Amino acid sequence: MPNTGAMVQEKMIDEQKQGEVLKAPGHLSKPGGKKLYIESYGCQMNFSDSEIVASVMFEHGYSATDQLADADVVFVNTCAIRDNAEQKVRNRLDHFKAVKRRRPQMVIGVLGCMAERLKTKLLEEEKIVDMVVGPDAYRDLPNLVATATSGQRAVNVFLSREETYADIAPVRLGTNGVTAFISIMRGCDNMCSFCVVPYTRGRERSRDPHSIVAEAHELVANGYREVTLLGQNVDSYKWKGPDGQLVNFAQLLTMVAEAHPLLRVRFSTSHPKDITEDVVLAMKRYDNICNYIHLPVQSGSSAVLERMNRTYDRDWYLDRIAMIRSIIPDISLSTDVICGFCGETDEDHEQTLGLMEQVRFDHAYMFMYSERPGTPAAKKWADDVDEPTKKRRLEEVIALQTRHAAENNRKDLGKQFKVLIEGPSKKDPKRLKGRNDHNKMLVFPGEGFMPGDYVMVEVQQTTSATLLGKIVRPA
Ligand code: SAH
Ligand code: SF4
Ligand code: F3S
Repeated sequence: MPNTGAMVQEKMIDEQKQGEVLKAPGHLSKPGGKKLYIESYGCQMNFSDSEIVASVMFEHGYSATDQLADADVVFVNTCAIRDNAEQKVRNRLDHFKAVKRRRPQMVIGVLGCMAERLKTKLLEEEKIVDMVVGPDAYRDLPNLVATATSGQRAVNVFLSREETYADIAPVRLGTNGVTAFISIMRGCDNMCSFCVVPYTRGRERSRDPHSIVAEAHELVANGYREVTLLGQNVDSYKWKGPDGQLVNFAQLLTMVAEAHPLLRVRFSTSHPKDITEDVVLAMKRYDNICNYIHLPVQSGSSAVLERMNRTYDRDWYLDRIAMIRSIIPDISLSTDVICGFCGETDEDHEQTLGLMEQVRFDHAYMFMYSERPGTPAAKKWADDVDEPTKKRRLEEVIALQTRHAAENNRKDLGKQFKVLIEGPSKKDPKRLKGRNDHNKMLVFPGEGFMPGDYVMVEVQQTTSATLLGKIVRPA
């Protein structure tokens, strides 16, 4: 099959869980009562939000089903980051149409970023939708469902300056019982010119650190061994306590790391303009904070970065990488790259490849630029890089990244890593999988070991995506 840019991009998106369907596990399903079916698209934050949504609905007597045909209420938690993310949701709504024909009383709600972006327009465009609910309105879901059940269409797209859902205990959906997300903040105050998130998720606000630490303790007590702290820009986390005491991200990271030595801590996403030495020093100080940073660069060209309003340039980015590596030489780094942004020339593109060559990321999420209506870029500049050029540049970026990942992984041959076992490998259920401190996936025969165990694994074979090995001892 020809390896077209679009196909490769789809693959990368899948790896990022874009478009993956998150179904409620069977044990949350109770006989009788009303049933909720929920699918999530988009980023980890959206997956984490679905767990809040489930919690709110369960409090109101609902239980989960992963069978669409059994559902009284169907929610799709949507993403608006690129046009293809929205297209996927529209295709799903078409599919729901057929089901609703057989069960006309079934309520269909569109939640999340696409709901927030399109608001009531969505009701005009998609006739089967009964509810449109933005990311800050989930406490209102039971009321909205009641309205929809009575035959009226229900909308709440109010964006809040305060809502963090801090007091709502998430219901862990589709969980492996080992790793979990904790949202530490919501919204985004940056104005990257290509990005829809500030419009779909509103102003940035940080969650009470004590509720975050309490959630970490609760997870440990329930057998979890890894948390990922989530925010669009974790480095700007800021909490002011009633006594006027300030907690920044480095301090929060320390507080969570101290929750339990067996609990691994990861975080996403860091922003190159805000990441501080203190954060990297905290990573170095605590063994259980993973030596891995996702630091989206978007472009290697300062001119493009300026138009993107990323508020850093190429040199600044490379300086941050140098700072990080001077503190933790063995750090693992990943990034995001957008190909074909407005006005991107071949020289700009070459600079992106050059920067990648310099940094040699372990992993990257790579996209073609998709113009989002209403964003500063859409208002100011033409989406003037033609599709074939975008695709070609994306293919080149992917090819280079795949080479770097393969070469970096090859250097791991013969090394031993501490791995947290997450469960059976998808490709070969007889083997186990788990990640090391670097966020690299390892696959190995694991007789006698269980998800949640830490083991030392020796690497015997590598690809660009996975390390294969054997357990040498418990860790
Ligand atoms: N807050 C994170 C990014 C969240 S969106 C950060 O600032 O890094 C995840 C990624 O989607 C972005 O890093 C960017 O690479 C990509 N993205 C965002 N808007 C896009 C658009 N309009 N077209 C293509 N890719 C986009
Ligand atoms: Fe979007 Fe930029 Fe905010 Fe990330 S930091 S969510 S790219 S506006
Ligand atoms: Fe998509 Fe919204 Fe996340 S637009 S990437 S689901 S914040």
